[in-house]
Amino acid sequence: MDNNAALRDKIRQQFDTGPYPRIALEKSPKNDLISLYIHNLVNPYYLRNQKVIDTEGKVILDAGCGTGYKSLILAEANPGAKIVGVDISEKSIELAKQRLQYHGFENTEFHLASIEDLPNIGLSFDYINCDEVLYLFPDLAVGLQAMKSVLKPDGIIRANLHSSLQRMYYFRAQEVFKMMGLMDENPEELEIDLVREIMKSLKDQVELKSITWRSELEIDKEKILMNYLFQGDKGYTITEMFSAIRGAELEFISMVNWRQWGLMSLFKEPDNLPAFLAMSFPETTIEEQLHLFELLHPVHRLLDFWCGHPNQGESFVPVAEWTLSEWQSVRVYLLPQLKTPEMKAELVRCITQLKPFEISQQLLIPEKPVSVDSTVAACLLPLWEESRSLMSLVERWQKLRPVHPVTLETTQAEAMDVVTQSLTTLESLGYVLLERCL
Ligand SMILES: C[S@@+](CC[C@H](N)C(=O)[O-])C[C@H]1O[C@@H](n2cnc3c(N)ncnc32)[C@H](O)[C@@H]1O
Repeated sequence: MDNNAALRDKIRQQFDTGPYPRIALEKSPKNDLISLYIHNLVNPYYLRNQKVIDTEGKVILDAGCGTGYKSLILAEANPGAKIVGVDISEKSIELAKQRLQYHGFENTEFHLASIEDLPNIGLSFDYINCDEVLYLFPDLAVGLQAMKSVLKPDGIIRANLHSSLQRMYYFRAQEVFKMMGLMDENPEELEIDLVREIMKSLKDQVELKSITWRSELEIDKEKILMNYLFQGDKGYTITEMFSAIRGAELEFISMVNWRQWGLMSLFKEPDNLPAFLAMSFPETTIEEQLHLFELLHPVHRLLDFWCGHPNQGESFVPVAEWTLSEWQSVRVYLLPQLKTPEMKAELVRCITQLKPFEISQQLLIPEKPVSVDSTVAACLLPLWEESRSLMSLVERWQKLRPVHPVTLETTQAEAMDVVTQSLTTLESLGYVLLERCL
């Protein structure tokens, strides 16, 4: 067996004895709005094209699906899509199949296959989710190329890598346990117990222990396996991530959690930077900004990104730059994850009691809570049923506030202004999607 095949065998064995993730079959992600938001094809497609895609009939691959919890999230988050899962671990595939069946999803396929062999499955995909897998590949570009070969022209890949900077303590721990021979074969109960014994025997102030050891590890086997004894685990930098994407002839679209990667958010006064920085920032590429962010503040365990075939994104004018005539042809969509009965009930309560509506209450996309006043909230209410034209929302606002309460003059011009400004803010925060119908 060559080195790569031997490594793949070790990884397969590790996941056959400890299929991941160990989440109870019955657990549903229906109320986990953040997970649904992350796994929804609508969001990256909109980010790339400023268009709202219908998930009905789309084909979605969960590459390295493990026990299928993410496949289940993909099924819940993308109504009407077909879900296909592949994994090299037979035990994991079995559990994934059972999970989707248990939750009533029939339009699914699971294959015992490696990502490298995807072309043999004979399907092409609108979206590929490759979560917590790519960093196990000996060569990132090989993994990305295999996925690219089955990606439809306007399809999108989501993949992620472990950050070498954020995770350096675990890589050090793995080195320790490799030196002790605990990773020579597939680590199981005995090796897990040895890790516990060794870590507990260290003084609490020993750096590796003080930074990585938590009391829950005394009972949580999965966390020990996936951190201290993870076969094939590797870390990468932003520069390496970009070079792998380029190596596979793919194009970077965005970080998945891009709001948490803002370089300016690291500065006390972003509008008052030292002159040298203020002059050089506008010249920096997105890759340089992300790299700088990570060097200054390596807090993200995953370098989680979307990419696709080059030059497939549609060019568009950012919402903040739209003219009045551009606004007139706009259709307004609510972020699908907000369309819950609970959110609607809360909205109706706020409208009735003339109170601000906290739209971020169950789904905090930016860092701080976001509210809209009760008139704007009342204007948005029909979006819980279906998408609406901008002009119908403007008319609704005028009905709600026909005259200005101070001057008693009509509010025709004000209506357009208030509604477009509110929507511009909500779009920038991710709560509504605005599509121009050309
Ligand atoms: C850490 S688990 C992640 C499981 C799932 N994606 C999740 O995030 O819950 C990694 C999974 O990738 C699978 N895997 C590793 N290398 C693979 C390959 N080359 N092809 C297909 N699956 C692979 C493993 O068997 C394991 O189930």
